[in-house]
Amino acid sequence: MTFYLTTAIDYVNSRPHLGTAYEKVTADVIVRYRRLCGVSTHFLMGNDEHSQNVYQRAQELGLEPRVFCDQMEQVFREVWAKLDVSFDDFIRTTEERHRLAVTTLVQRIADAGDLYEGVYEGWYCVSCEAFKPDKDLVEGNCAIHQTAPEWIKEKNHFFRLSKYRDRLLQHFEAHPTFLQPDVRRNEMLRLLEGGLEDISVSRTGQSWGIPLPFDPSSVVYVWFDALINYIAGVGYGSDEERFRTWWPADVHLVGKDITRFHAVVWPAMLMSAGLPLPKCVFGHGWVNWEGQRMSKSRGTSVDPLEAADRLGPDPLRLYLVKAIAFGHDGDFTWERFEEHYNADLANNFGNLVNRVAVMAQKYRGGRLAPVQGAVSPLADRAADAVGRYTAAMAEHQLHVAMAAAFDLIDATNEFITRAEPWVLARTPDRSGELDQALFGMAEAVRIAAILLWPAMPASCTEILRRMGYVGPVSQIRFDRDTTWTHGERQIVTGPLLWPRIEDVGTSKSVVASTRRGVRASKGAGDTMTDETESGAAPPPQENGVVETTSNASTAPVTSTAATGAAAPQKNGAEGAAVDASAAPAEAPRVSFDDFMNIELRVAKVLAAEPIPKSKKLLKVTVDTGSGERTLVAGIARSYTPDTLVGRSVIIVANLEPAKLMGVESNGMMLAATDPEGRPVLLTLDDPAAAPAGSRVR
Ligand code: MSP
Repeated sequence: MTFYLTTAIDYVNSRPHLGTAYEKVTADVIVRYRRLCGVSTHFLMGNDEHSQNVYQRAQELGLEPRVFCDQMEQVFREVWAKLDVSFDDFIRTTEERHRLAVTTLVQRIADAGDLYEGVYEGWYCVSCEAFKPDKDLVEGNCAIHQTAPEWIKEKNHFFRLSKYRDRLLQHFEAHPTFLQPDVRRNEMLRLLEGGLEDISVSRTGQSWGIPLPFDPSSVVYVWFDALINYIAGVGYGSDEERFRTWWPADVHLVGKDITRFHAVVWPAMLMSAGLPLPKCVFGHGWVNWEGQRMSKSRGTSVDPLEAADRLGPDPLRLYLVKAIAFGHDGDFTWERFEEHYNADLANNFGNLVNRVAVMAQKYRGGRLAPVQGAVSPLADRAADAVGRYTAAMAEHQLHVAMAAAFDLIDATNEFITRAEPWVLARTPDRSGELDQALFGMAEAVRIAAILLWPAMPASCTEILRRMGYVGPVSQIRFDRDTTWTHGERQIVTGPLLWPRIEDVGTSKSVVASTRRGVRASKGAGDTMTDETESGAAPPPQENGVVETTSNASTAPVTSTAATGAAAPQKNGAEGAAVDASAAPAEAPRVSFDDFMNIELRVAKVLAAEPIPKSKKLLKVTVDTGSGERTLVAGIARSYTPDTLVGRSVIIVANLEPAKLMGVESNGMMLAATDPEGRPVLLTLDDPAAAPAGSRVR
């Protein structure tokens, strides 16, 4: 079985931004999944070089266009390498194989009688590299680029696009999945129903481009040229056998702005040349910056290298695939990225991997085997997640597939909370139960790592290794290896994969270094884990979780976080003194006196307001019973200021003051953290009974 996927080829007049990178990353996730399924893939990406913008940029730099393109190829390749984009082939439109394909196809279209000479007169947007009818202009400017188009009048060769309108409509009707998602299909159907006009496919008076085989005074219009890369990349015009192996493409993945070229113009060109049509065009949405189109000139573009450097390529890839519904527009902000990182990776998956490895190590020296005949409740949860993941991937619902994988992670965390392996470990006659629990946890993590591997290849390869998988990932087969297995395995621990970020959303956001954290607590017991011996920090509990001793009468219920951003970060990777195995009973103890040194009091919210430029922080004025105070609290994602006024909350009253976003905070409000990482304030059961200032203990 083969699978041929292409992305749009990029204009090289500027570096890739996160929007262009989005397309390549999502393509890579699709292709990696197919490879896991044992399918032989051809993943083609490349650069679109015959654009006027590229030519102009080279001139500005005083370079030959080809030399400039050579330099830009390295820039693009560096970004794709950093993001772990595993294309099988990279094509440039200045390559000989591309010229051969363009010349051959254009000649075939001409031979079919579908080209004729005429005069084009109208607007042309150089940034779009497209002719613009008046209806596409806003106040005389290109609606997409907000720049003035050029007026062009020149002799051109035209392609009889209008001739293919009925055949295109029939094709759309006969192949409902030809153009996806439905919103794009409907747009295109409306366009086709309105009729098509012939299009100009050559430019005169330009040297930068591929000359028309029958009129060397003209070059092929850059879009007509660029689309042909999809067949040039698999040997059209140069290697017919290769072409027969790969063509037609299974998926052309492109942005929604260029769907028309791919779902109308390109199929018509192929029809004219008598070639099969691609099986599917998928028009993905845009990644916006705070709701606006990414644009370098407007300062709304994000450098993918910087984004990958901040938290790592895998967290960035996961964000793009999971946080944005594939096919729709999505937003990127540093704050959202960091929040997703903390919620999905630091607090959730990373924490789970670490807990499982450390518990396996601590209780069984890393050697795990299931109890004969016992069935883990997680086996059904895994099968369900795998089933939903597979169905979602088949429909290009990448975000749904990722969510299914995280359902399995959540189920495993819930299982640990219920199974309480640390309690089982203290009861010798429950040793079999402990074996079974540890094995189930590790097996579920192994399966989750395979599901997430296409999105986070490097991290999941490492997680698979820690969960005892010894072979190369290339030998994993999705169907076989995502079913529940029973083999004995050796689990290994390792440093934290994703340390928590403190101060999310502030300009100070930094990843807490694994070396900065304190060692795993002595409370972990007498047995020092690999983690502690290697000096790596233990994983933070969720937001500085303080889980209580878990015995029959005091089961841990939820995690508790201090949301006053002014709090010195004594929790998380910075200062956690919490055992990685998350054995609540063995968390480090504080003396009663130490506890009493922390002054918890009831306070009543008098006023609250947003803090400019912060999405997370609110400035809150409270009555502490002995006066008014200002706190800065990281709760804006859960509460609007007006919903806070009048509430009785619990504050840490004797914290040192600290300044955040220019506002001095004098205390910290307590809150639990929900599974999405959002704060949930601790309030009083009976506020009237305990007025502001009441001591909490
Ligand atoms: N060169 C043409 C494509 C020719 S394909 C035969 C082109 N190049 S581009 O560099 O402008 O865009 C490359 C791809 O990135 C396109 O699919 C485009 O839709 C996509 N994106 C550009 N900005 C984007 C976002 N902000 N978000 C998501 N995708 C974006 O068009």
